[in-house]
Amino acid sequence: MTDDLYHKARAVRENAHAPYSNFKVGAAIRSASGIHVGCNVENAAFPEGICAEGGAITSMVAAGDKAILEVLVYAESDSLVAPCGGCRQKLSEFAGPDVKVTMAGPDGVEKVMTMAELLPAAFLLKPA
Ligand code: THU
Repeated sequence: MTDDLYHKARAVRENAHAPYSNFKVGAAIRSASGIHVGCNVENAAFPEGICAEGGAITSMVAAGDKAILEVLVYAESDSLVAPCGGCRQKLSEFAGPDVKVTMAGPDGVEKVMTMAELLPAAFLLKPA
């Protein structure tokens, strides 16, 4: 099941705009309407860059979905690439505690964690 996410995240990573960090990332999110992808998009004002996960979330919401079923992040690094703190919060807005987040690289899956493991004691507000 994760195979389709893997191939899409790996492919979209090629489109990343990462001239400052030289570190390209791809993300794929499964929701009811299908798979939504994102890559990191940096700019000259470094903190204003967009992470791959943020791009994929934006694409999912623009397509009309608000529930993440599964996430995969693809990067090429000697060490494990896990979603940053900000992305964990962004994902937790749309992903319940049991949602699976897979971290992968050129050799395949490196680690699988749930949202609850990635962001324990998440800050959530109950919308009015
Ligand atoms: N980055 C992501 O897009 N997702 C992650 O999970 C980790 C980091 C990006 C942000 C920045 O453009 C580059 O990787 C280096 O931090």
